[in-house]
Amino acid sequence: MKVLLLGGGGREHALAWKISRSAKLEKLYIAPGNAGTAEIAENVALAVTDFEAIAAFIQEKGIRMLVVGPEDPLVAGIRDFLEADERFRDLMIIGPGKAGAILEGSKDFAKQFMIRHGIPTAGYMTVTASNIDEGEQFLATLRPPYVLKADGLAAGKGVLIVSELEEAQRELREMLDGKFGQASSRVVIEEFLQGIEISVFAITDGKDYKILGSAKDYKRIGEGDTGLNTGGMGAVSPVPFADGEFSRKVEERIVRPTVEGLRKDGVDYRGFIFFGLMNKDGEPSVIEYNVRMGDPETEVVMPRLKTDILELFEATACGKLADCHFELDERYCTTVMLVAGGYPGSYEKGNVITGFDQVENSIVFHAGTKWLDGQVVTNGGRVIAVSSFGTEMEEALQQSYANVKKLHFKDLYYRRDIGLDLLKWRENSGSASGK
Ligand code: AMP
Ligand code: GLY
Repeated sequence: MKVLLLGGGGREHALAWKISRSAKLEKLYIAPGNAGTAEIAENVALAVTDFEAIAAFIQEKGIRMLVVGPEDPLVAGIRDFLEADERFRDLMIIGPGKAGAILEGSKDFAKQFMIRHGIPTAGYMTVTASNIDEGEQFLATLRPPYVLKADGLAAGKGVLIVSELEEAQRELREMLDGKFGQASSRVVIEEFLQGIEISVFAITDGKDYKILGSAKDYKRIGEGDTGLNTGGMGAVSPVPFADGEFSRKVEERIVRPTVEGLRKDGVDYRGFIFFGLMNKDGEPSVIEYNVRMGDPETEVVMPRLKTDILELFEATACGKLADCHFELDERYCTTVMLVAGGYPGSYEKGNVITGFDQVENSIVFHAGTKWLDGQVVTNGGRVIAVSSFGTEMEEALQQSYANVKKLHFKDLYYRRDIGLDLLKWRENSGSASGK
């Protein structure tokens, strides 16, 4: 079948890599893609939110399946747009419509959804310009630090965690005054959850689901989780403390009730769900939902998927996930992200990347890269993810780092401590996982 994948980051290269290995694939197009996807598929210069142009392309090329990588087109309603068009009655779409994507598009909606369906999450209050005083009073009832979230999409920047009450009350006013534009015209104030963060990924056809595994992401730019937030500097899957008892709790208390909750609410959700979780003493609660895969988590989740992904997607689109054979690789997969010096602040683009031919026994996923005059050059803050397998996590990490050293570009930076906390955790806890 002919497939169109939307997006152009490391997540999309990892999805494209997996799709390109499918026995069902006839031709893969990626819009807009990057230098890595250009080697395994055809890049198309289309913006992911230009629905008219995407529709015209689907029609022209006879595309059978559309896979949506990022959240923006989902929240903006690409599924609804295409489903309203007679010409696309047989098009399979991986990604929810607007009614499902609002789980990521509105934090207030997500909180109401969790409360309605009994899914564990932090206590909260939603504040608008009309109840600022109540918001300030609610803040005063909480213990620091204070969590303030812009309700809408804010390019991953809309969450503030502040330690002083006065500062939190000032930030609340500034957010409602438009600090994050329209996205913060409503603000969700949340209780701060202690614990260790982990992500769990699932795919659902609206009735059944398959859990694609757990992953830990390293969000800060500096080693030891210091400095500014980034899109993610590395990842490990699976997370050792997320096995056994803990994963059972996640499935019973969170994944299943979410899928059932969507169905009860009349939402026909067909696509990925990304559960951002906090593990406090072995008890999981939801920090956030995303309606797409994570980046760089996809770079460790996709390699572990043994099932033909187009079979999985077809089953998802047709509501037949229960019958789909599903298998994950037991091994660990780790990835280390190479970023441009200065990221997540300002950084250069256009620097030549060398060393690809030296890499052995890792998978190189491109994020911000493009071809220029016969060379691959940097084209974003996050540039390359180097993913590797290992029977032990340590082995996978060593493999990723050995290959990271073979890649070069001007002012390259990466964290040297991806996975170290998990290795230490394992040393300290012996075999008592998930408790
Ligand atoms: P979000 O965009 O909701 O995932 O929030 C961004 C980050 O803020 C999360 O990945 C957590 O590290 C942190 N965070 C969000 N909500 C909470 C919370 N209620 N308690 C503790 N940390 C939180
Ligand atoms: N790595 C976190 C995210 O994709 O949202």
